Parts: sequence; structure tokens; C-alpha cells
Amino acid sequence: MEPLRVGICGLGTVAQGVLKVLQNNASGIRRRTGRQLEVVAVASRTAKPEVDLGGATFSTDVMALAARDDLDVVVELIGGENTALALVERALANGTPVVTGNKAIVALHGERLFALAAANAAQLGFEAAVAGSIPIIASLTEALAGNEHDWLAGIINGTSNFILSAMAEQGQSFADALQRAQELGYAEADPTFDVEGVDAAHKLTILTALAFDAGFRFADVYTEGITKITADDMEYARELGYCIKHLGVARRRPAGIEARVHPVLVPQDHLLANIGDAMNAVLVHSNAAGDTLYAGPGAGALPTASAVVGDLISIAQGRSRLPRMASAEALRILPIDEIETAYYLRIPSLDQPGAFARVATILSDCNISIEAAIQREQTAPDAGEGRWVPIVILTHVVKELVMNEALIRVQALPEVVGEITRIRVEHFAGAD
Ligand code: HSE
Repeated sequence: MEPLRVGICGLGTVAQGVLKVLQNNASGIRRRTGRQLEVVAVASRTAKPEVDLGGATFSTDVMALAARDDLDVVVELIGGENTALALVERALANGTPVVTGNKAIVALHGERLFALAAANAAQLGFEAAVAGSIPIIASLTEALAGNEHDWLAGIINGTSNFILSAMAEQGQSFADALQRAQELGYAEADPTFDVEGVDAAHKLTILTALAFDAGFRFADVYTEGITKITADDMEYARELGYCIKHLGVARRRPAGIEARVHPVLVPQDHLLANIGDAMNAVLVHSNAAGDTLYAGPGAGALPTASAVVGDLISIAQGRSRLPRMASAEALRILPIDEIETAYYLRIPSLDQPGAFARVATILSDCNISIEAAIQREQTAPDAGEGRWVPIVILTHVVKELVMNEALIRVQALPEVVGEITRIRVEHFAGAD
């Protein structure tokens, strides 16, 4: 068969990884695919003469590459939003299949892009957009397509997982761990996207669209990062039998779909608790398959390139996996007030008789049941009004709205001398 003529926009870490995988694994890919995958053109705003382009032509005009009509597929790896979106649209409008690793454009403009792809009978591969090497897009759109999914939960930002793991296991500070993640090439160009949860929210938007036919609704995904997690929280969580992970969670409820990204207390013996460093993992609970777990490197040149090349091979073989679009009857994404979960609370309170009892009374008034509590003597900074101690409480499952109302009342107690920390808890059972 004729070679598949590939044009690549971008020459950063992942694009260089793609060139390497295609060069190093060329004969195996040809054997398995029945076709050669030939990179004929590369375009990038910045020239990198040191990179071996394997005979491909080079230009600095990415839009011109996307508009060419002699390519069988355009690979978008420039990142960012506007130019990337414009060039993907240009290629699709031309009927040229596209492979992208750009989670932002899929999460924010997925409806439009897949409609355009379908209208022009062009494939749009995006396996690399979620969790790097892990084949979660293929799993949801192909192997698990016969299931209804109850929930999925994933560690889908390697940088956050790296930072939380280093804080928990090596007692590193947040800043040191972030710097190391950046040195290792895990972090986004703007690391606030990692530590504030935006990168994970892009990925959860895509997973939610695929698993629940919910459409690409990034604006409705609740997003919270890891910047407020302290060494104390790590320690209390450990004492209570949990560890703290940053998760994306999507769950089907009778009233709609929960889609939320935030730190979570995970039981220490749970599979996701043992995914360390920059690894990613996604656990899917489906009505036929049961629990299936996908784990692997979620970032980095070769792992992400692996996903890009897998998409190129699908296109070379003429396989289609365009996702279904949100239909009119798509379930709504529930506002965060309506989610139901258990909670970890750390309440800085003056060390006075009755303080714990007053907190417990408010929770009880709100019908919030306490599962465990820790209040131990501690040498804490003087808040100016006497010694204070953290009251740490684990609750049973409750609606977030009810918890919010209770916390307003607890925060207003005269004994409470600082901001209450609240971290959601997951047990991954059907109702929680
Ligand atoms: N910054 C991302 C992460 C890279 O840390 O997971 C892959 O999207």
C-alpha cells in the first residue's frame, strides 16, 4: 500500500518523541499496519536544526502545513489554544484527518471539532490528549462501548500526583516538588494549569463526554487544585487510614452527572492510592465489565508519542472512532452543591472546654454523621487568644449543600480561629 503521508505541526518534546517512535519502530509499524508511516513535512514557529527530521521538509508556517492537500494526516502538537484550534479546523475542513494531543481544544471545542470531522468524513484522533500513554480513549470508545458506566475516577495530572507523592513520602515542600516535576518535563508550560486543576479538568471533560454521552462541558466541571494541601493534612489523612490524591471523578446520579476535579482522601489500600510519582491511572466502573483499571505514564515525550502513533496507525488502517455527540436528552452536569460525598474537615479551634462538642452539635443538627475524629494536644502557634488545636473530623456521605451550610455555622463559632480545610473523601462504592 501507499505510505501514509504525515505532516507534523510543532517540534517540541512530544513532536520529537513522535519522530523518534516512528523512526525507531518503523519496521514493526509497517509490518503490523501494512503501510509505512512517512513524515513528509514538519512545521514549527522555531527551527531546531539539531532535530533529525528523517528527510521531512521544514517550514515555520503551521497554517500552511494544515492547508496542504497532499497530506493523509496532520498531527497537531503545538499546544496552546487559538492557533492550534485554527489549524485543526483548517485541516478537517479540507477533509484531512487530524491527530492531536491538545486536551484544551478538545475539552473546550469538542462539539464543534467532531461535528466538523464528521461533516468532512475526516478522522480526529485524540488519544494523547488524556493520560499520555494510557489507552483510555480507545477503551471507552471501543472495548467498553457496550457498557453503561456508573462512575470513573482518575489520577489524570502527573504533576499533581508527583507533588502529592513527594510531599507524602519524602516530606518535600510543595515548591520543591513542583520544581522537580518541571525539571522532569511533566508540567505544562504554565504550571498553574497543573496545580490549579485546569489540566485535569480538560481531561475529565473529555472522559465525561465519552463515558456518559454528556457533551464537552468544560465550564460545568468543578475544578480545584492542590495548592492548599498542607503537610498536616497529609499526616492526619495517613493517621485516619487514607492518602491524599488529586482526582477527576465523574459519576452518574439520578439527577445528572457529577464531574469534578479536586483533592480527595483515598483509602490507603485502594488501587488508586498506590499510583505514585507522575503516573496516571483511570478506574472505570461499568455495568458489564465491572471495575477496570488503566495505569501508566501520563506525560513525557515517548509515552505521549505512543498514543499519537497509535492514532496514526488507526487512521492508516481506516478505523473510525469519532465519539457520539451530546444529544438533547444528555444528562446535565450537576452543580457542585448537588454532589454527595464524605468529607475530611480540619477545624482550627481554641483549646477550650466544649469546643469539640459545639462543632459536633452543629454537624448533628445538620444531620451529618461523624465517622472518625482526632483532637490531640499540639503545640500550635498562639492565635493571640490562647492555644489552639486542630479538630479533625471524617464524616459520612452528605450533600455538599448541607455541608456548606454546616461549615458556615462552624466557621462562625467564636472558638474557631482560622479557615476550615475541607477535603472530599471517596470510597468508590456505588452510592459514595
Ligand atoms: N502537565 C500534564 C501532567 C502533562 O502533568 O499530567 C500531560 O497532560
